[in-house]
Amino acid sequence: MEDRTSQELQKKLNNLRAEINFHNYRYHVLDNPLISDFEYDQLLLKLRKIESEHPELITPDSPTQRAGAEPAGKFDKVNHPVPVLSLSNAFEAADIWKWYERILKLDKRVAGTTYVVEPKLDGLTVVLHYRNGSFEMGATRGDGTVGEDITANLRTIRALPLKIPISKDASESPEYIVVRGEVFIEIESFYELNRRLEESGNKPYLNPRNTAAGSLRQLDPKLTASRPLTLMTYQILYIEGRIIPSLRTEEEMLSYLGELGFPVVDSTYCQTIAETISVHSDFEKERTEMPFEIDGAVIKINDRELFESLGYVGKDPRGAIAFKFPAQEVTTKLLDIGVNVGRTGVLTPYAILDSVKIGGVVVKQATLHNFDFIAEKDIRIGDRVAVKRAGDVIPYVIGPVVDARNGDEVIYKPPLLCPNCNQPVEHIDGEVAWYCVNATCSAQLVRNVEHFVSRGAMDIVGLGIKIVEQLISAGFVKDVSDLFTLEKAELLELEGFAEKKADNLIESIAESKKQSLARLLTSLGIRGVGEVIAADLARIYTDLDALSFANEEELQQIEGIGPNIAQAIVDWFSQDTNKNVVLKLKSYGVWPRSVPQTEIYTGGTFNGLVFVITGTLSSFTRSEAKDFIQQRGGKVTNSVSKNTSYLVRGDNPGSKFDKALDLGISIINEAELQELASE
Ligand code: IVH
Repeated sequence: MEDRTSQELQKKLNNLRAEINFHNYRYHVLDNPLISDFEYDQLLLKLRKIESEHPELITPDSPTQRAGAEPAGKFDKVNHPVPVLSLSNAFEAADIWKWYERILKLDKRVAGTTYVVEPKLDGLTVVLHYRNGSFEMGATRGDGTVGEDITANLRTIRALPLKIPISKDASESPEYIVVRGEVFIEIESFYELNRRLEESGNKPYLNPRNTAAGSLRQLDPKLTASRPLTLMTYQILYIEGRIIPSLRTEEEMLSYLGELGFPVVDSTYCQTIAETISVHSDFEKERTEMPFEIDGAVIKINDRELFESLGYVGKDPRGAIAFKFPAQEVTTKLLDIGVNVGRTGVLTPYAILDSVKIGGVVVKQATLHNFDFIAEKDIRIGDRVAVKRAGDVIPYVIGPVVDARNGDEVIYKPPLLCPNCNQPVEHIDGEVAWYCVNATCSAQLVRNVEHFVSRGAMDIVGLGIKIVEQLISAGFVKDVSDLFTLEKAELLELEGFAEKKADNLIESIAESKKQSLARLLTSLGIRGVGEVIAADLARIYTDLDALSFANEEELQQIEGIGPNIAQAIVDWFSQDTNKNVVLKLKSYGVWPRSVPQTEIYTGGTFNGLVFVITGTLSSFTRSEAKDFIQQRGGKVTNSVSKNTSYLVRGDNPGSKFDKALDLGISIINEAELQELASE
C-alpha cells in the first residue's frame, strides 16, 4: 500500500515536472506559449507544494531548482571531454575564397560539398553535460581544455532544458551528451534591464556581452537569475550510449538538437561559397534588426565526416571559418571632452576623438556616459582610448589604454557652469547626473524640439537640428507647440529658406497633427517615458487630459512604471510651462485620442498569429508595421521558424525570405497584411 502511494506520487511529480518543462520550452525556446503566465505559475506552485511536503523527492533537474542553489565560494575546474575549439577568422570575401582553395587542395571532395551558415553570436561559450536526459553540469570554455563549473548559474537560464527530450514524442535522449552553446542577452532585454536599473537609481550596463559575461560568473546564482540571460546551441561536442542517431551533416545535428528540446541557432543551407558570402552580407544588412548582437557569420562544411577529416590548425578546425563583420572596436586618441546639454538640462560629456574608421564608418565623437564614468575609468584628455560602435548604437568609449600613456595626459574636471548659458550647474542627491537648472537655457529648448520632431516621436520630416536652432534663435519657437503656428513668412526670413522649402515644412508640420497619442506622448520628453511606456500609457488613457489627472499610485499599477517614472509623469503635468504647452497643443488641434486597450484586444484579428517582417516596406515604417500587428493582438518576432504564421515581405528581402520559403511559411505583402486585418 505504502509503495503504491509513493509510486503514484512519484508519477504525479514526474508528470507535473514534464508539463512545466514543456510549457517552459514553449515559452522560452519556441517563443510560442500555450498557457498564460498565471497558469504556468499555478503549475509551479503546485509542484512547490508537493516538494515542500516531500523534500526527499526533490531532484536537481526539477523546474523548482533553477535558482535554488546557495552562493558558491569559488568555481571548480572541469576538464572538457574533448577540446572546445575556436575558429579562424576572415574579414573579407577574398579570405573565404582563399579558405575554400586551401581546403580544396587538401581534399577534392570539397568541390562538391555544401555548407551551413549561422550567425556568430556575440556571447559566451558554454559546455553543457546531460546524463540520462538530465542536465548534470555546465562549464565555461576556459582555455578550451579546462573550464569552470558554473552549473548553478546555468540552471537559472530558462531557455536551458533541465531535462531532454522535452516532449514525449521526440526521440529518446542518449545516455551522455555534451552540447556546446552560447549564452547571451537579447538587445530588448538588455535595454529593459538598464531601464529597471536606472529606475531604481543604479548605473546602467555598458553592453549586452559584458553583462552576460559578468552575470555568468556571479558566485551567487540568485544574481545570475535576475539577469535576462538566454541560450542557443550549435554543436554536439560528445555523445555516447545506445541511442545515437546517425548525424551525417551539420544540418542533421542541429535539427537533432532541436528535437531534444534545445534552442538552436538559425542556419542557412548553401550549395556554393558564393552563396555563403551572400548570406553573410544579408546578416550584415539585417544585423540591427536581429534580436541579439552578432559579430559575423560562421561558415561550416555540412558533411561532418569531411569536416573531421580536414583536421585542425592549432585550435581551429579547417572545416569551418568565422566571417567577421568589420571591427567594431578600435583605439584612438582622445583629443578633448565636450559637454552636451540635454532636454531635461542633464549635462552629458562626450569624447572628441582623433577621427577613426569603425566598421566602415568615420567616427569623430563618442559618448562618455556621465562624469562618474570618466572618473571611475580615469579617462584623461590625451589618452589613447578604446571606442566601440555596435549596430546602430552611438559609439561609446570603453576606457583608456593605460600602458600607452606618456605623462602628457591631463585629468579632466567636470564643468561648474553650463557650457551653453554659463549658469551654475547642480547635482541631485542620489543621481549620477549634473543638471543645468536654468529653465531659459536655449540648449535645452533645442534638444526638446529636436526630440519632439524626431522619427520615433512626431516624425516631422525636413526639420533637422539646424532649422530647429534657427527657429529658436529667431524667437519663433519658445516651446514645442509654437511649431504649429509657424507661418510661411516667418520661415522665409530664415537663411536657406525659399518658397518650396517653406511650404514643405509647413505641410509636414500640419501632417504630424495626425500622429498617434503614443507618439505625442513620446515626443513630450517626459523623463522615463520612451516609446514603450508611451504606448502602454496610450492604451489606458484616451488623451493628454486624461493622463494629466492620473496620480502616482494609479500609474504605478502599470507594468514597467515604477515610482520614479510615475513621479516624473505627475511632475511634468503639474508644471505651469507644461500645462501651457498642453493647452496650446489642444487649441491648435494637436490632440490625438486613443482607443483603450480592452477594445483593441477583444477584437484582435491577429490574436495568436506570429509575424516576421523582412525587407523595406513602402506604406509603413518598421515600427508602424509592428504597431499595426500588435494593436490587433498579433506578435512580431525577428526570426522565421516553424511557428511563424506569416512572413511580411518588403523590397529587397533578406535571408528570412529564403528561410520562409524553405519552411513553407505563408508569405504576404503589405497590401495582403492590411487585407488580413480587415477580414
Ligand atoms: S562553431 C568547431 N558556431 O565563436 C566549431 N561558434 O570564434 C567552433 N560562436 O568560441 C565553434 N556563434 O563562442 C560556432 N554559430 C556559431 C557560433 C560560434 C558564436 C563563438 C564561439 C566560439 C567563437 C569562435
